[in-house]
Amino acid sequence: MFRRLVLIKLQLSAAVGSAVGLGNIWRFPYVAYDNGGGAFLIPYLFALLTAGIPLLIMEFTMGHKYRGSAPLSYARMNKKTEWIGWWQVAIAFVISTYYAVIIAWAMAYTYFAVGQQWGEDTGGFLMADYLKRVDIVNDAAIGSVGSIVPGVFIPLVLVWVITLGVLFKGVKKGIEVANRIFIPTLVVMFLIIVIRALTLEGASLGLETFFKPDWSEIMSPGVWVAAYGQIFFSLSIAFAIMITYSSYLPKKADINNNAFIAGFSNSSVELLAGFGVFATLGFMATQSGVGVDEVAAGGIGLAFVVFPQILNTFPGLNGLFGVLFFGSLVFAGLSSLISIVETFVAGVQEKFKVSRTKAVMIGGGLSALISILFATQGGLFFLDAADYFINTFGIALAGLVSVITISWFVKKLKPFQDHANATSDIRIGLWWRVCLGVVTPVVLGYMFIMNLIDNLK
Ligand code: PHE
Ligand code: NA
Repeated sequence: MFRRLVLIKLQLSAAVGSAVGLGNIWRFPYVAYDNGGGAFLIPYLFALLTAGIPLLIMEFTMGHKYRGSAPLSYARMNKKTEWIGWWQVAIAFVISTYYAVIIAWAMAYTYFAVGQQWGEDTGGFLMADYLKRVDIVNDAAIGSVGSIVPGVFIPLVLVWVITLGVLFKGVKKGIEVANRIFIPTLVVMFLIIVIRALTLEGASLGLETFFKPDWSEIMSPGVWVAAYGQIFFSLSIAFAIMITYSSYLPKKADINNNAFIAGFSNSSVELLAGFGVFATLGFMATQSGVGVDEVAAGGIGLAFVVFPQILNTFPGLNGLFGVLFFGSLVFAGLSSLISIVETFVAGVQEKFKVSRTKAVMIGGGLSALISILFATQGGLFFLDAADYFINTFGIALAGLVSVITISWFVKKLKPFQDHANATSDIRIGLWWRVCLGVVTPVVLGYMFIMNLIDNLK
């Protein structure tokens, strides 16, 4: 029994390391808030149970059964489907280029948090200034990339040195060791902040605002799109990653169990982040006399613009709180970035039969070079564009195509179900096949059409 638990824990650490990332701490709170608050949790849970966990089981099964990164696993399933794997690898590549930059921002702010180096007027500091430029750059587009933001360049180099350094060492010595350090560190830091946040004056006010369900939103398709988008991004599914990671799982690994644990732990971290962030916003609203709604309107900039402002008025130990907050973003982000880069490194390594060192140098090096573009003064414009491209053609379409292909064209759901059940205490059955073969394609298809219509408007 004990040995079995240890086994599960080790296998999980890589998947959880990939799942728990910037998406949980930086993205979830504002996405949930923007999409109906408490009411968002219904489509969110629906997406988790009917698409998130079922797809996780499917991807774990593919990697475990075919023993390869995404392109190789798809090729082994059916020669004609290899391209789906490469498509997912391409998406992972694009994500890696801007994901690294957000971690670099968090690293810079971890340092600036010592003694609140952003000063009294946080609206004029680095990220705030950078955000303001999006509108300007939108008009002038590529012409005004500007120079590299000085405070971000060194952290960006550091992010890449750590990530590529871990990847050079390989999966067992590099990735597993890194995750064994990063995840516990993250959990401890994060719990301290959330507990502190919940004991702040005004915390309940913030939580009320967060959870106040806006039921009028629940029927709006946009909210459902947001919920599915969040689940896919946050669980790292349809990005080739979970297939790659599970190809290293031991034969005896319990796939269904792993998928449920990974899915629920990821969502728990997400909910905790929501508590923490909104409790803190409640505190700020109480201090400044402004409504929580107004304070929360920060969107993407919530973490980098509103938080520094809050830290300025924090009752004691503000430096420590800031370091813990931005530091946990860094640790959460690094283990996810490592997984994203591993995806295309593994793909290249297997396809072209090159050494790991070469694959890391070529794949990782290229992504690192491109990421510099996002660290320029006009970089947020490109970040926005890349994120849009990924959400439209990445999440919806790649997910849709892979689910339909597997359920309806190569008809692998039944064999996959048997494969997953063979080593598991939890048995999946008809409901699993219906979720993947019917419910998910319908919702994803709808999402994709909505996205297109939105785009044509
Ligand atoms: N799941 C990670 C997060 O929540 C991000 C990620 C996306 C990782 C896609 C891998 C692939 O931040
Ligand atoms: Na996540």
